[in-house]
Amino acid sequence: YTPDKIRNFGIVAHVDHGKSTLADRILELCGVAAPGQQQMLDRLQVEKERGITVKAQTASLPYKGYLVNLIDTPGHVDFSAEVSRSLAVCDGIVLLVAANEGVQAQTVANFWLAFEKDITIIPVINKIDLPGADVKMVTSQLKTLFDIEENECVLISAKKGLNVGQVLDKVVENIPPPKADPKKVFRGLLFDSYFDNYRGAIAHVLVKEGSLQKGQKISSYHNGRSYEVSEVGIMRPEMIRCSQLFAGQVGYVVCNMKTVAEALIGETLYSASLDRKDVVPFEGMKLVQPTVYAGLFPVESADYENLKQAVERLCLNDSSVTVTPDSSRALGLGWRIGFLGVLHMEVFGARLSQEYDASVILCQPSVEYRAIIKDNDTIRKRYDGKSEIRILDPGKFPDHFDVEEFLEPMVKVRMIVPSSMMGVVNGLCSECRGERGDINSIDEQRMIIVWRLPLAEVVVDFFERLKKLTSGYASFDYENDGYNSSKLVKLAILINEKEVSEFSQIIPAAMARDRARLLLHRLKREIPRQQFEVVIKACIGQSTKALSQVVIQPMKRDFSQLLKGNFGGGGMERLNKKLSHQKKGKERMKTLGNVQIPKEAFLNILKN
Ligand code: GTP
Repeated sequence: YTPDKIRNFGIVAHVDHGKSTLADRILELCGVAAPGQQQMLDRLQVEKERGITVKAQTASLPYKGYLVNLIDTPGHVDFSAEVSRSLAVCDGIVLLVAANEGVQAQTVANFWLAFEKDITIIPVINKIDLPGADVKMVTSQLKTLFDIEENECVLISAKKGLNVGQVLDKVVENIPPPKADPKKVFRGLLFDSYFDNYRGAIAHVLVKEGSLQKGQKISSYHNGRSYEVSEVGIMRPEMIRCSQLFAGQVGYVVCNMKTVAEALIGETLYSASLDRKDVVPFEGMKLVQPTVYAGLFPVESADYENLKQAVERLCLNDSSVTVTPDSSRALGLGWRIGFLGVLHMEVFGARLSQEYDASVILCQPSVEYRAIIKDNDTIRKRYDGKSEIRILDPGKFPDHFDVEEFLEPMVKVRMIVPSSMMGVVNGLCSECRGERGDINSIDEQRMIIVWRLPLAEVVVDFFERLKKLTSGYASFDYENDGYNSSKLVKLAILINEKEVSEFSQIIPAAMARDRARLLLHRLKREIPRQQFEVVIKACIGQSTKALSQVVIQPMKRDFSQLLKGNFGGGGMERLNKKLSHQKKGKERMKTLGNVQIPKEAFLNILKN
């Protein structure tokens, strides 16, 4: 295939609007998948279970004399970095909108991502088979928001396979061929990578110039290393070895890259015959920054080494997480992990247990606060001379006497909500300390509203509350939006007078009392009765004066009461049985001081 016979495109859509279903149909239509085969591109187990796409995959398909390279993209807000990444190799996108739900927040975000990159957008309205489908509403929204004309839209049902061919025809007709030059020496863009246990890092590349084949010597621009290519091929979506990848093609390359860190996303690969100084690197892709951090620990300290391997392996396939070693008095050695968002964190935890059979404690997430340290030599010395520090974990919260100003990260949240629900949504946002932004209507019934909120409010359960309040009718998307000055305190949780920093939190002073009550209520729910009384206190900073307090009564009393109450001869036996059950249960428990805490508690206290 010469570049003019190649089309590189992606499908982007709001969650559940049918990307994967459309991809399956396209694979069928091109004759590479049997009819009815499902979710070809969603390979990971979590993806199957939750029905969401986490890791973008590609498929190179023959269609009417063309080679169409489909780059599947994830739809959830947390993974927008991957969407961005995929768009870097696409010359066009299919913007999929479900006819029953219409334009949603993620549709808007994806449209602008593509628009800014100046790539062709093919609007496609899906699910027209549904009784609730309202094509008129969707076309008028597309016109209002993006100035897309009704006659540009392709109407399809991915589920029924209706008009899917029209989508591919438009891809071939409207999307320009890749800008690629076969006559030059090899230069390619590494846009994704994953780890294969047998072959090491496998890099996905877009060949921009020249060609790539087995035995070729190539170099990486940023890493400055050299490799010998041991295999090249295309994805369909499984790997198919081929002799050569030509300019304009998307494919995979196996060379002796040991880790995915080496296969840096956005890296420029070039023929080793070129002098580095003559190579123009591709523009760097947007670096993904973690927004949510959480402690990760093995349930049994003895499992540390195994877990370490599992975490390393998983990170090989997920370059968007950051890992730093950490230790906790209660939980032992572990890591502090940076995620793109809460969903990303849950997916990471689920993959650890599913793919690596690891039993882990993922602590409550926190965001990255900052503190401006007072301009005083003695004080600054305590912070290695720094004028500003990052605070990722409540255990390292600075003394407020040392701090000039605290800063907390903000996000811009874009929501699409039915007009009738504006009131409740605005109420929720102001309760979450938000600042109101633009409001616009997208049709008679829906508004698009923007609020600026502290990220800390968003990561806990903002989206769940938003969905609940609007019965699932609101959709949302968010992006980072700088820092705000904030009066922060550390809410310390003391269990029988010992601080358990795993439960402590950094929060705005004004929220301390409410948060303390909520946290203690949840802790009381999660911590089972022990042989002795357990007193849980919430205090501000170093103070031991309780802002709020709960007591968990000892269980001994229960049993003695049972026995007293003429429980009969079997009483002791049952008690022993119960105690031995508890012994088994202990394996899933963590001991803090002498209090046994189920490992789920560390995450469940975040949930209602
Ligand atoms: P994410 O990967 O999580 O972003 O979702 P997705 O956009 O890939 O959506 P997916 O293809 O998984 O489809 C979501 C749901 O919509 C599934 O239950 C599909 O069966 C259903 N669906 C997809 N296309 C159609 C359609 O044309 N008609 C109807 N009725 N249902 C559809």
